[in-house]
Amino acid sequence: MIILGVETSCDETSIGILEKRGRSHNILANIVASQLAHSRYGGVVPEIAARTHVQLVVPITQLALQVAKKSFEDLDLVAVTNGPGLMGALLVGLSYAKALAIGCRIPLVGVNHIEGHIFSILLDHPAIKYPFLSLIVSGGHTELIFVKSKLAYEILGSTLDDACGEAFDKVARMLGLPYPGGPYVENLAQSGDAEAVNLPIPRIKDFDFSFSGLKTAVLYYVKKHPHTPKKNICANFQKVVVDFLIQKAAKAVRQYRCQRLGIAGGVSANRYLRDRMQKELTAIGTEIFLPSLSLSTDNAAMIAACGYEKYKKFGPSPLNLPAFARFVGFD
Ligand code: KG4
Ligand code: ZN
Repeated sequence: MIILGVETSCDETSIGILEKRGRSHNILANIVASQLAHSRYGGVVPEIAARTHVQLVVPITQLALQVAKKSFEDLDLVAVTNGPGLMGALLVGLSYAKALAIGCRIPLVGVNHIEGHIFSILLDHPAIKYPFLSLIVSGGHTELIFVKSKLAYEILGSTLDDACGEAFDKVARMLGLPYPGGPYVENLAQSGDAEAVNLPIPRIKDFDFSFSGLKTAVLYYVKKHPHTPKKNICANFQKVVVDFLIQKAAKAVRQYRCQRLGIAGGVSANRYLRDRMQKELTAIGTEIFLPSLSLSTDNAAMIAACGYEKYKKFGPSPLNLPAFARFVGFD
């Protein structure tokens, strides 16, 4: 079965083509066009994102088909992110996917973007045993999820304010770094001294997260200590974020007696996070599953992978499938 995935929930226009044969799969193409137009505004401008998706989605599909050596006639299913995300951006991908479904006479299936990130773990680790814990750290979401079995979830905790990646982006902005800031913060942090600054670790109960206090602490720190090297602030900020994520993940491992943890979403591309998670969770007997870097950030191959399983279990989505902006759980 050949599945075409469409991802336009934020500022990446992505088309993925996945081949499924029984339990095995092959990513034939996974094209991601990161929209650069937003960087001069220091964040994603929804209107610009939607307009850029309109321009990119067809040529990116043509490129994906070319890379996969497939044509429209070869497609069996179209999977599309229908939320959560920016409404205008989602509507471009959703309408396009519906047009493809009608034009190619193939079924459509809607995919929750967060669930898509969970499938990025499964794409690289198809043999992972259920149940497993999943930490999703992206620009829009921070979720700790217990994956009970295929497509069955219990949400343990979410961020109460800013998402983890959003905090990286905002701190980067305070320090005059470009957008998206996560990779710039990581780069500077590499040569910084994390012990030279002492930001507070957030104290939030249960499995929830919060990053706005930490972000504000950085703001006050920068005002009070304008001569502190940026690299030291980045190093300490990154350390505190990872300390906090490790605390929550370890607590879930203990409470749920589950020794498998998958980590996905844009921030999981951070090498410091990957190394420390590997080291510290392995030390308590937990196996860590990380997607490859290209599958950590937004991409349509993960949407195709999730769409395939959803289609197999629940059948196609109706052609009047709506888009939704906010994450309120999985249906
Ligand atoms: O999952 P993603 O590609 O898009 C959303 O669903 O939001 O995540 C994007 C986020 C951005 O906030 C970006 O700054 C962050 O992931 N990010 C990173 C790194 N690479 C991307 N944050 C920290 N370190 C990185 N290396
Ligand atoms: Zn994402």
